[in-house]
Amino acid sequence: MTITASRTAHRRRYLMCRPDHFTVRYSINPWMVPSRPTDTGRAVRQWQALYDAYVALGHEVELIDQVPDLPDMVYTANGGFVIGGRAYVPSFRYAERRPESAFFARWFAEHGFEVVEPAEVNEGEGDFLLVGDTILAGTGFRSTGDSHREVGEVFDREVLSLTLTDPRFYHLDTALTVLDPVEGPDAVEHATIAYLPSAFDATSRGILQERYPDAIRVADLDGDAFGLNAASDGLHVFVSPRATGFAAQLAERGYRPVPVDLSELLLGGGGIKCCTLELRG
Ligand code: ARG
Repeated sequence: MTITASRTAHRRRYLMCRPDHFTVRYSINPWMVPSRPTDTGRAVRQWQALYDAYVALGHEVELIDQVPDLPDMVYTANGGFVIGGRAYVPSFRYAERRPESAFFARWFAEHGFEVVEPAEVNEGEGDFLLVGDTILAGTGFRSTGDSHREVGEVFDREVLSLTLTDPRFYHLDTALTVLDPVEGPDAVEHATIAYLPSAFDATSRGILQERYPDAIRVADLDGDAFGLNAASDGLHVFVSPRATGFAAQLAERGYRPVPVDLSELLLGGGGIKCCTLELRG
């Protein structure tokens, strides 16, 4: 089946953090092996290529400085969840990342966002993805089910809880991509997603199947290459160059894959989407 549709690029505003102090010194996901050497210079070059690709395609990128002792701060998707100028701050599962919250909260406050402190453990846009007017929320490894209720209250939106079961895909954004980042009720019928079925439990697969019958189901090989950890503006999809099958599926649907290699950042268990937080004004 070939679905031809005209896609539209929507200008995004993102928050990123240059990996000036990137390293892997602890392990909180299966990708992180502290004994494996990392190359900070290479991480910075790869990150810069992503930054440049965003800017070249018209997106606005804000920056937060990396705190030297917080190597995972580069994964800004975990720095919050932002809709309508309101920033819901993360409360990290693991002690190693907990100090990041205060730095992200301060950044939001200084840039005019309304800051909402969380009561529940949640890892921001790593586990919360906005599709139209619905928040898809991941649990199983990091964010708790209680945070799903909390995020729904904070933004007064419907929340669909999804359970992740494969430790390699521990955040929702490692297993599901929002391809149409348009907000509001009108957007819902156009909102397309892609996901890795094998990363979810049976109940969640059922929910996804029912709610998004037209979704792109991505093969395990592309998931393993961190292909789902992608960012989309509605036309361009910034995606791992190793996820070739997914790229072909995207092209067939009228999207334009933009390959960006973040293999060095993957040593920390993160990719394109992890390094990107949507700032919805
Ligand atoms: N090392 C980080 C962690 O385990 C990677 C976070 C990746 N971020 C994401 N949004 N998936 O927390």
